[in-house]
Amino acid sequence: MGKLVIEGNRKLSGHIRVHGAKNAILPILAGSLLNSGKSILYDCPCITDVDVSAKILNGLGVKTKREGETFLVDSSSMNDFEIADDLMREMRSSIVFLGAIIAKKQKARLSTPGGCELGPRPIDLHLKSLKQMGVSINEEHGFINCSAKDLHGAKIYLDFPSVGATENIMLAAVLAKGETVIANAAKEPEIVDLQDFLNAMGAQVSGAGNNVICIRGVKKLHDVDYRIMPDRIVAATYLAAACITQSELEVTNVNPSHIESITSLLSDMGSELVIKDQSILHRPTGNITSIGTVRTMPYPGFPTDAQSPFMAVATLANGSSVFVENIFESRFKQVGELRRMGANIMVDGSVAVVRGVPKLMGANVSAMDLRGGAALILAALAADGVSEIAHIHYIDRGYESIEKSFSSLGAKIKRVEE
Ligand code: UD1
Repeated sequence: MGKLVIEGNRKLSGHIRVHGAKNAILPILAGSLLNSGKSILYDCPCITDVDVSAKILNGLGVKTKREGETFLVDSSSMNDFEIADDLMREMRSSIVFLGAIIAKKQKARLSTPGGCELGPRPIDLHLKSLKQMGVSINEEHGFINCSAKDLHGAKIYLDFPSVGATENIMLAAVLAKGETVIANAAKEPEIVDLQDFLNAMGAQVSGAGNNVICIRGVKKLHDVDYRIMPDRIVAATYLAAACITQSELEVTNVNPSHIESITSLLSDMGSELVIKDQSILHRPTGNITSIGTVRTMPYPGFPTDAQSPFMAVATLANGSSVFVENIFESRFKQVGELRRMGANIMVDGSVAVVRGVPKLMGANVSAMDLRGGAALILAALAADGVSEIAHIHYIDRGYESIEKSFSSLGAKIKRVEE
């Protein structure tokens, strides 16, 4: 297991291109099962969650190949319906393969998913919705056995606009008999990307990005090539890095309309932003203003995935900021580590109060989850002295060679293998 060693208190400069979105490529890789043919995916990030997805596909008999940022899938040889327990444990989003496997093989077997420990992350909405589509589900000894002789469309109301459940229903519905309507669907841009990918291979999906999504089942799909959308959380992380280090930095390959809650917050924090079609230039103003209250919400609200990076920024703001985490429990795991670096943060349940301090100090800290790990990098980039960040396998799940990206911007950061 490697660690990152960062010498802080340096300005960043230049420009950085955002890679393809983790949360878009994962359901799209599951969707590549559906066409029983070839999918060519451009801008596929080199992150470990994609490696795990490739292992899942390979375990199902599917061929995969990476050529740089292009990922090729040939699902014509799919011959299994089970996901190995160790892969389910490695990544919670492996549950998103369920709908596609059921649609292709009329049965599926997988264990209860793992992933970042963000508190209880139930899959009741996934299972309840699939049942409505004719799937019988039998849960025993930590395994979920599913079968569906007659997968059919259904009218599904989600009690909460779950991203994963919305994707699973879409994937199951594409080849199901009849029409599926998802009400109170998740509206995240990655759902729109999944819709666009599915339609590019002949599916009939409409409404993504709104509350109601309709999927008309088709009999067959065809080969496809598709470019993955830019990662809006990675873009938010670089902008947060620019803010905490008070640097002038241009972030490219970004869709500004996907991160309006982030750019609005940055403006409130005193940053000057030049927003173009596909890039955002961050200019510092020498002062980080405290945030007021940030509440994480389903899209288009402030994303829970950006909460920890912006908490790192708030540790150096003038005054107090409040974060209310509404999506996941246990999403303040970075707090203890930020405190080791001199941050002043109090947590009570789902509320964290951050009182800005004039300086952070380098320290030895551990990433506890993916985005919390990114928050520690940001804090270390701004802190006085040297920081060592352990457990960086969490960070590698969602950021492609993060040390190379920050090095290219002038940071003193290196990966040390242990
Ligand atoms: C996805 C993202 C993740 C992001 C999250 C919220 C991927 C791979 N991951 O995760 O980065 O933080 O959306 O934007 O896209 N819930 C239930 N029952 C269910 C499903 C969810 O109670 O059946 C709850 C969860 O416990 C959580 C909330 O709903 O409290 C949101 O979960 P969901 O939107 O499903 O997030 P994920 O798809 O897991």
